[in-house]
Amino acid sequence: MKDNTLIEVKGLQKVYGGKKSIFLSTKKVTAVKDVSFSIREGETFGLIGESGSGKTTVGRMILRLIDPTSGSIIYNGHSLMDLSKKEMAALRKEVQIVFQDSGSAFNPRKTIGSQIAQSLLKFGDNSDSQLIHKETLRMLEVVGLRADFYDRYPHELSGGQRQRAGIARALILKPKFLVLDEPVSALDVSVKAQIINLLMDLQKEFNLTYLFIAHNLDLVAYFCDRVAVLSKGEVIETSSTMELFKNPKHEMTKKLLSSILTLHGDLGEVYRNRNVI
Ligand SMILES: Nc1ncnc2c1ncn2[C@@H]1O[C@H](COP(=O)(O)OP(=O)(O)OP(=O)(O)O)[C@@H](O)[C@H]1O
Ligand SMILES: [Mg+2]
Repeated sequence: MKDNTLIEVKGLQKVYGGKKSIFLSTKKVTAVKDVSFSIREGETFGLIGESGSGKTTVGRMILRLIDPTSGSIIYNGHSLMDLSKKEMAALRKEVQIVFQDSGSAFNPRKTIGSQIAQSLLKFGDNSDSQLIHKETLRMLEVVGLRADFYDRYPHELSGGQRQRAGIARALILKPKFLVLDEPVSALDVSVKAQIINLLMDLQKEFNLTYLFIAHNLDLVAYFCDRVAVLSKGEVIETSSTMELFKNPKHEMTKKLLSSILTLHGDLGEVYRNRNVI
């Protein structure tokens, strides 16, 4: 393994369903067939593919929220498959996720502040409630939310504000690696840009490594260093963002590229500034 590789997945596969008992059997779905890639420390790695291609499943396997059917995940030199419960719990702090749907990512009956604090109570080393409260307020400030958001309920926030709260909840544990599962897909263009800029600032400030999941190439040129394109559970192309935009090899990649250029003609300026087209 290269010395600056933070995470490496090899031959990852996930089959859902199949026979559960003699009474219950569901249809087998191979959501992820064969996925391999590695992510270097400090980079933003994009995992791009159409809806249903298996992106969320890959993200959840990396976090061990679901178990892979086969394959391996090596984080910082350690195989995640071999860790004890205690070791996995320690790792939980380092590896966090920002969910696709910020609406359902929060419990509607609890305040935003208490849920961010809960993350620290559950996984952190400290149980001093005053300290936790103070740290939660600091985290709200880091993501650009005022202190009075602490006592608000999830439905009292806009989509963009809820996404910021989701980022605060992940960051409060001081992680090294964040899986960003379509963190801005549900937001309108100006809010999208705000959240992406926030993520870029936080990456510099806290030296974070990102896996950025998206279903199109929108923002990828701006945000990602390297990209893997996923199709029907398989990686069909991996390259630097610049190479992908200049010289897409696979038909699916070309399709994803052409849709972004027609959708966001005016984003061309951004890409030209980054020398990608
Ligand atoms: N718990 C589950 N049980 C059975 N099949 C599932 C389950 N979760 C996902 N799938 C199936 O696995 C495939 C991949 O799903 P996944 O959620 O990983 O896709 P995705 O690339 O994240 O899509 P999207 O862009 O819509 O979020 C889909 O065909 C989906 O229907
Ligand atoms: Mg998904």
